Amino acid sequence: MSNLVDRYRDLKRRGEKITALTAYDYPTARLLDESGIDIILVGDSLGMVVLGYEDTTQVTLEEMLHHTRAVARGVKKALLVGDMPIRTFDTPDEAVTTARKFVEAGADAVKLEGGVSHTPHIEAITRAGIPFMAHIGMLPQQVREQGGYKVKGKTQSEAEALIADARAVEKAGAFSVVLEIVVSEIAKQITNAIGIPTIGIGSGEHCDGQILVTHDLIGFFPWFTPKFVSPEAQVAGEIRKAARAFIERTRGHAALSKRTDD
Ligand code: KIV
Repeated sequence: MSNLVDRYRDLKRRGEKITALTAYDYPTARLLDESGIDIILVGDSLGMVVLGYEDTTQVTLEEMLHHTRAVARGVKKALLVGDMPIRTFDTPDEAVTTARKFVEAGADAVKLEGGVSHTPHIEAITRAGIPFMAHIGMLPQQVREQGGYKVKGKTQSEAEALIADARAVEKAGAFSVVLEIVVSEIAKQITNAIGIPTIGIGSGEHCDGQILVTHDLIGFFPWFTPKFVSPEAQVAGEIRKAARAFIERTRGHAALSKRTDD
């Protein structure tokens, strides 16, 4: 485990940018892995972009483990991280039990949302020998309490709290930390303040790496795309085009064979 912490500290020292994307199924995982991505996260964004829930608070552990097993079958080289869903890490002991289930499902590491408030949970997980990725900033599992997906670090006190969170998760043994929609300048300060890599999502260019929800990157969830994403493909459009072509071809053939039968 400490190997992974050392390896990621080293990547940061060398200035090598870390790349991470989400996957929830075998073909996507295999394609991302074959493309050379460093980290594949089975994110609880699963709930929104695959299962059609309103937010991530409805995702269950069983759903996460089911998709982690599928992803694990497709990953050979990337580091596979499983995202611990809400209400599965209420105590440090519960956090370890959940983390072990992800490892049994094929994950190399786990992630949970929380900073200072969750250091006992993170310490318990890393003490159990399970590599841990932290997640601070905007916490989607708290979206209802936080009143939406709002940028973090706009005020002095928010910025100070974020830096404290980052230092706490590093001390608790995390090998990296996701910064979700944090003001770019504060993300830069955090990146300079800690020895483990920061992996940003909507947090500017100064992070040590970047992570995105794959569906956003490839245009596979056209009903909502976060402002900070520049899609590299339009998969939804391709699916619609193929489906329409199939419908036309099938209906066209039916009309044709009906005419031939008459
Ligand atoms: O659930 C998820 O996909 C995530 C990433 C957005 C970091 O937590």
